[in-house]
Amino acid sequence: MNQKVSIVSTGSFLPEKILTNADLQKLVDTSNEWILERTGIKERHVISNGEATSDLAVKAAQNALTQANLSSEALDLIIVGTVTPDQLVTSTACYVQNKLGARQIAAFDVSAACTGFIYSLTVGRQFVMGGNHRNALVIGAESLTTVTNYTDRNTCILFGDGAGAVILQPGDHGHEILYTSLFSDGSGSEMMSRPSGGSKMPNTVETIQNRLQYLQLRGREVFKFAVIKMVQLVKDSLSKTNLSMKDVALIIPHQVNMRILEAAAEKLEFPMDRIVINIERVGNTSAASIPIALDEAARKGMMKKGDIIIMVAFGGGLTWGSAVIRW
Ligand SMILES: CC(C)(COP(=O)(O)OP(=O)(O)OC[C@H]1O[C@@H](n2cnc3c(N)ncnc32)[C@H](O)[C@@H]1OP(=O)(O)O)[C@@H](O)C(=O)NCCC(=O)NCCS
Repeated sequence: MNQKVSIVSTGSFLPEKILTNADLQKLVDTSNEWILERTGIKERHVISNGEATSDLAVKAAQNALTQANLSSEALDLIIVGTVTPDQLVTSTACYVQNKLGARQIAAFDVSAACTGFIYSLTVGRQFVMGGNHRNALVIGAESLTTVTNYTDRNTCILFGDGAGAVILQPGDHGHEILYTSLFSDGSGSEMMSRPSGGSKMPNTVETIQNRLQYLQLRGREVFKFAVIKMVQLVKDSLSKTNLSMKDVALIIPHQVNMRILEAAAEKLEFPMDRIVINIERVGNTSAASIPIALDEAARKGMMKKGDIIIMVAFGGGLTWGSAVIRW
């Protein structure tokens, strides 16, 4: 069976607490000017003690359910894209299933770093296409600030926390997903990693003292990779859907760095005012970044019926992928 699949609603949630550039200036040798000029970020939302990724995911999901006028009992699939699960054993999706009061349905996490939402959306779409699932909840949720080294100025300025969600249904009555693409290249895994805490290097006193449980980046390499992939993904998505640049109303990219988005927009000859950007307020929230930006754009009325939207993501793995939606 190969049927059409639509996004019927969106939702997002940002935790209340805010970490500004001025706050970071007190932690590391940096400045508001440097961060703003090099990344475009002014502030990010941060989870509080006692909050977990699943709490953010549940709030985003509740917003999407309300918008779709659905109860959580109607759900028959939950997928959470995250690399910052509540715990390593017990998927965040299972916590979400329980907290939402959903039925005993399929619930699992997808790990693809900043491409996590596009991977999750693609998996959810395949399930719905298969014909056995009618209301699939797909979430991107992260608490990256819990794995950020606040003594490393190269990385700690980038990340924020949050969650975004969509509900998928069979048919074209919503915003139809026309195409998705997924890619990976494990030879680049060292570009972004959290060295310790997994089976390869379990945490010990020594690994913790060396701060190996935190995210490490080769920022300059990621920068180049992200520009190249954003351009390739948009071009590939257009050629596979027989569309051209002039058909595209909006691009919703992973919110990685304002300069990366500007460089890619220039290469694509696409106007910056049609790229959805919230990095100034939200920072890089990895798998949550696209569904948060999508929900904010939808609530601001930035899309009108029939608009072609391209979502593009790239990140650790390495992974990258895209989705084309007819709004
Ligand atoms: C991280 C990033 C903002 C750094 O910006 P950049 O322009 O590439 O800066 P560089 O790494 O070349 O560093 C330039 C200088 O600024 C310094 N610097 C780095 N972070 C700084 C900070 N927060 N404040 C002040 N100076 C800083 C560096 O030490 C370096 O100094 P040096 O020239 O004396 O060695 C940028 O590379 C980036 O956004 N990369 C991709 C982000 C990413 O990996 N995201 C996660 C996966 S999606």
